[in-house]
Amino acid sequence: MKKVTLNVLTVSLMLGMVTLVACGGSSEEATETAKDAVEEATEIVEEVKEEVVEATISGEEVFTSKGCVACHQLETKTVGPSLKEIAAAYDGNKDGLIAFLKEEGEAIVDPAQAAVMQPQLAVTKALPAAELEALSEYILSNK
Ligand code: HEC
Repeated sequence: MKKVTLNVLTVSLMLGMVTLVACGGSSEEATETAKDAVEEATEIVEEVKEEVVEATISGEEVFTSKGCVACHQLETKTVGPSLKEIAAAYDGNKDGLIAFLKEEGEAIVDPAQAAVMQPQLAVTKALPAAELEALSEYILSNK
């Protein structure tokens, strides 16, 4: 959220600049500068929006709502390995975990049981990027 605050500050500063420039005269240069500043501010607003959406998605909620809990417990192996075991195997490798969940990687935790997990990949593959990211962060946080 720090980055979001920083971006909001930047936008405020830039809008301040626009006001200053706009009141300072009507030369073409000033108009161009003001336009650039508005464009840049708009881009930052878009970025902030995305960050806010990402920050409000709970990976744990995705994990629960998509039914992963049916086979994965926090610390105990049930049908599937525990989240602790998965987090240990991936050891912070978020890109690797995301690749697996997008069906672009190999199973590394319990390859012998991969067929049981395989149908779930249709669910995880279809997740919006921000949800997949949050889900992976949640899984990795259970080390
Ligand atoms: C029907 C039971 C079942 C459900 C439901 C299930 N899993 Fe699995 N999962 C397994 C089994 C069994 C394995 C072990 C095979 C393997 O390692 O791929 C596994 C393995 C995994 C792994 C380790 C992959 C690796 O590299 O080996 C991840 C990550 C994972 N599951 C995530 C999920 C997520 C996220 C969901 C919910 C969308 C989910 N699972 C739902 C049974 C299930």
